[in-house]
Amino acid sequence: SLVPARFETRTVTGLVKGHAYSVTAVEECKPSQLKESKVRLVRLRNPWGQVEWNGPWSDNSKDWTTLSKTEKEKLQHQSAEDGEFWMSFEDFKKNYTKIEICNLTPDALEDDKIHKWTVSVNEGRWVRGCSAGGCRNYP
Ligand SMILES: *[C@@H]1O[C@H](CO)[C@@H](O)[C@H](O)[C@H]1NC(C)=O
Repeated sequence: SLVPARFETRTVTGLVKGHAYSVTAVEECKPSQLKESKVRLVRLRNPWGQVEWNGPWSDNSKDWTTLSKTEKEKLQHQSAEDGEFWMSFEDFKKNYTKIEICNLTPDALEDDKIHKWTVSVNEGRWVRGCSAGGCRNYP
């Protein structure tokens, strides 16, 4: 989510302050002009189904012309006002302040070499900040 704000406000880059977005994909691609470097991209979705990021790698950004047709197809790049858009991982890190990862069981996560995952079960009770969800404005 973005920096918490008293009221949800739309920024000049099209992001809404205090708003929670879903990460729907991550990809690494190689613009044809740049020989070495790869670009890491994150696809996000505004749950409103509209109001999108208009910065680098957004729907109609010229950044897309640096990719081959194959790369573009891999990313399923679409220019539709559907609330879904891509941005670079660098911009993602700069523009978002908090990420929550939901996973039903740790065995669905393949790699446990770097991070260890643990399970905690709170049967029959809601524990604030642990098993109680609630509205993200009042977690
Ligand atoms: C978000 O990313 C844009 C594009 O790089 C940048 O101009 C802006 O400063 C970033 N926002 C923050 C809060 O860093």
